[in-house]
This record gives sequence, structure tokens and C-alpha cells, in this order.
Amino acid sequence: MDDLRDKYLGQIAGAGDEADLETVRLAAVGKKGEIALKMRELGKMTPEERQQVGPALNALKDEITSAISARKAGMEDAALDARLRTEWLDVTLPTRARRRGTIHPVSQVTEEVTAIFADLGFSVAEGPQIETDWYNFDALNIPGHHPARAEMDTFYMARAADDDRPPHVLRTHTSPVQIRSLEKTGAPTRIICPGRVYRADYDQTHTPMFHQVEGMAIDRDISMANLKWVLEEFCRAFFEIDGIELRFRASHFPFTEPSAEVDIRCFWEGGTLKLGEGDDWMEILGSGMMHPKVLAAGGIDPDVWQGFAFGIGIDRLAMLKYGIPDLRAFFDSDLRWLRHYGFGALQAPTRHAG
Ligand code: DAH
Repeated sequence: MDDLRDKYLGQIAGAGDEADLETVRLAAVGKKGEIALKMRELGKMTPEERQQVGPALNALKDEITSAISARKAGMEDAALDARLRTEWLDVTLPTRARRRGTIHPVSQVTEEVTAIFADLGFSVAEGPQIETDWYNFDALNIPGHHPARAEMDTFYMARAADDDRPPHVLRTHTSPVQIRSLEKTGAPTRIICPGRVYRADYDQTHTPMFHQVEGMAIDRDISMANLKWVLEEFCRAFFEIDGIELRFRASHFPFTEPSAEVDIRCFWEGGTLKLGEGDDWMEILGSGMMHPKVLAAGGIDPDVWQGFAFGIGIDRLAMLKYGIPDLRAFFDSDLRWLRHYGFGALQAPTRHAG
């Protein structure tokens, strides 16, 4: 009995893999294994012998069976360890910043603009791209006959033949969000609204869909000086160029009084726009003190509140900052263009990257 035990425990310990172990199992405790054979010999024994040998054989069988399962569990653990070692990966490795997709310059610039205005205390508001003509025009002091409606090259949405209500429009600017935001939050307020706008226009610096960011700040004692400071602060932070030069030009918008357009000094070099020098000016935004009628349309009292507003072309900002010559290519989805001008997923807005 002791010999049997030594023999099989030795073989179990020495088994190299699960197949070896199975061979040992069959030889020792299988139906035709050595212990089964010994059991068969019990019949030839005297009852006294049988009483001794029977339980001893059963005990040995149990011992060998549990030694086999212990060894098997050990092998499975070792196999799992080995597999985990080959599948190990270092989650602290930096990702590859530029693999396939890139962030579109419009998205990047929108993030940058939002970060800068967030630092100045502006939160982000939103509005629909399909607007009623009331929000897009009337509430902004552009009545039906006003020439600004024609100038804006508006896309009108079709109404059903028997529906004679005024048609919806694709918003021509982000300014309707001034009204929508005022209706929601009242004054005082400080918001920006980045988003898509639409006009029937197409050349090197115009596409039928483009992007603006609207800004609005309302309080009891806001003046044109606050507007100028905010816009200058924004441009300095955004362009990160010493000697960036802005030109405030008196202008007219129905929704502001007084109004100013802001141009940035630039020039074209080899088909690329350069900033800060040259004899060209590129218009990047319109702005002014909000018209009392607009404040009233938004549901606040113009005798108590005043504010400034501005609308900046986001695509223009991207062209200027990143030297992109043609606006039309922004929306062609040409992978070569996207790889060239796009940003890596981890390129945070420059203000924070420092
Ligand atoms: N909505 C104007 C446009 O699209 C831009 C603009 C001008 C917005 C003056 C303003 C503003 O908020 O005050 O041309």
C-alpha cells in the first residue's frame, strides 16, 4: 500500500501537464486502474483481511484523487499566470496623440474661444438652427421690410401649401440666441453661444454654412468701454501674437446702438493669411450696445438694464490663427486636409496648454 502511494504521489508531482496527469489518474484510480484491480482481489481475502485492506484502499483512492485535483488546480493557476503575463499591458503609457482621426479646426477653435470666455465669466447658451423669423429678425429689431433681411441671403424653409404662416428660416446668425437666452434666464447675464449659421453665399471666405459665436453681457452699468476691453482681451488671448492689431470701425446693426465692426490687421503671403502686419484688414466680428427694443423683446426692462453683444466668425478665426487659405475646404471632408490642419485628440485649447 505504501509503495503504491509513493509511486502515484511521485508521478503526480512529476506530471508535466494535464495530459500527463490524466494518464496517471487512469493508471491509479481509473476503472481499470491499479487500485480497481486491487479492489477486485478483496473477494479472495478472508473477511478479517478484507476489513483491513478495503478501507485502506478506499482511503488511498481518495488521497490520490485529491492529490490529482490539487495538482490540476496548481497547473491551471500557473497557466493563467502565464497567460496574464503575455497579455499584460501598461495602462500608464501615454496614448499615441495622433493616430487616425483629428479634431477639426472649427471644433478646436470653438473649444479655445469657449475656454477664453469661460475665464471671463461667460457661460455657454444654445438655440435651434431652424428658427422662426421672429427670433431671427423681428425680435432683433429687423422688421419685415428691413433691407437687412435681403442682405442676409436667408434660406427659407418651405411650408405646406395651405399653411400661410411666415416660413421658418435657417438662422442667419447666432443673435437669436440673445433673445432665447434672455427669456430663459433674465438679467444680469453673461453668455456666449457658438454654433452653425446659414447664408446663401459662396467664395474663398464664405460658405453657405459657417460658424459664429455670439456674446452678450447685461448688467445695470455696462458700457462700450467694457465691450472694447473684453474683445481686446479675447483677441490677445486667442491669437497669442505680440502686436496683434485691431481696428474698431463705426458700423450699423439694427440690434445695436452704437455699433462697431472689428477688423484685424493681416496680409496674404503665398496664398496664406498672416496676422499682425500688412495693409489688409479682415473683418472678424460685429458688436455694439444692445438696442433697447432687443432688451424689451427678451423680456427685460431697458430702463434698468443695458448690455453689449457681439458676433464673431469662428471659421474666420480659424483661418487667421492657423493660416488656412480657403474656407470652402473646411467642409470638403478631404482626409489630406483634415490630417494637415486637424488637431490631435489631446491637443488642449492653447490657453491651458500655455
Ligand atoms: N449678427 C451679426 C451678423 O451675423 C453679427 C453681430 C453684430 C452680432 C453685432 C452681434 C452684434 O451680437 O452686436 O452679421
